[in-house]
Amino acid sequence: MQRVGGRWKRAGVKVALAPTMGYLHAGHLRLVERGRKLVGDKGKVVVSIYVNPTQFGPKEDFAKYPRDLRRDLGLCREAGVDVVFAPDNKQMYRGDATGGYSTYVVEEDLSKLMEGKSRPTHFRGVTTVVAKLFNIVQPQVAVFGTKDYQQTAVIKRMVRDLNFSVKIEVAPTLREVDGVAMSSRNKFLEGDLRRQAAVLSRAIREARKRVSRSRQRAEVLKRQLKILIEKEPEARVDYIEFFEPKSLTPVSSVSNGSQIGLAVFIGNTRLIDNGRL
Ligand code: PAJ
Repeated sequence: MQRVGGRWKRAGVKVALAPTMGYLHAGHLRLVERGRKLVGDKGKVVVSIYVNPTQFGPKEDFAKYPRDLRRDLGLCREAGVDVVFAPDNKQMYRGDATGGYSTYVVEEDLSKLMEGKSRPTHFRGVTTVVAKLFNIVQPQVAVFGTKDYQQTAVIKRMVRDLNFSVKIEVAPTLREVDGVAMSSRNKFLEGDLRRQAAVLSRAIREARKRVSRSRQRAEVLKRQLKILIEKEPEARVDYIEFFEPKSLTPVSSVSNGSQIGLAVFIGNTRLIDNGRL
């Protein structure tokens, strides 16, 4: 992949990369579409598929994260992807932790909030693997989804701080008809859990409605949304945060233009969502 990427770069071919962990859905394919728009018919669109072990905590779902490479390859082919880069752990990290891999990229500001509080080593894994993918594929543009809002902020900061010459594009969140954000982890939601998952987007809409009427105190609004969410029998709030969309700074007074981010367990499955109010 690195050889091909280098050849493209020297030949002046435009390349867009959409990094994923696979088990692709229509949200991922939106990133591909956006990539194609940006590089044109003569450019190349690369999708990486790699369930990155370093971004999972020891008690998280790395082992059971859904995987189906055959199906993913079919979807990529249909979507007009030029190259799928699907490395294994040996290629990315010289095997497991005993393989002698010892270099990480750590963003130390935005990574500490929200997802970073609940998943302390998560963003270190994300920035490390994304930096590696940028060095391997050498794209001009990389496309990420708003679904992982904090991730886009962390990656933009890494690109700026470490002078990566890649442009970061962000595509909107694609949702199911009931408002549930598409996610590979939705596969885990069996029976009534799938219905209960709609409570995340319902909470965002409720916050938007309240804030459109008047400014709200963050602590009060958080408490109200937690009650609304936990009315679903299997829902347990991990965090609800209101913040300034550019800096991710938490706000104590929520108004139009504030961003909400939340993580909720539906049964054993941890889902995240976010939205502009
Ligand atoms: P993954 O969860 O597979 O998501 C890959 C990309 O698809 C991310 O940029 C994510 O924001 C975007 N995406 C996911 N669901 C979406 C939806 N419903 N609508 C639009 N875009 C959506 O995010 C990761 O993988 C990893 O952390 C990765 C960046 C690949 C690093 O390992």
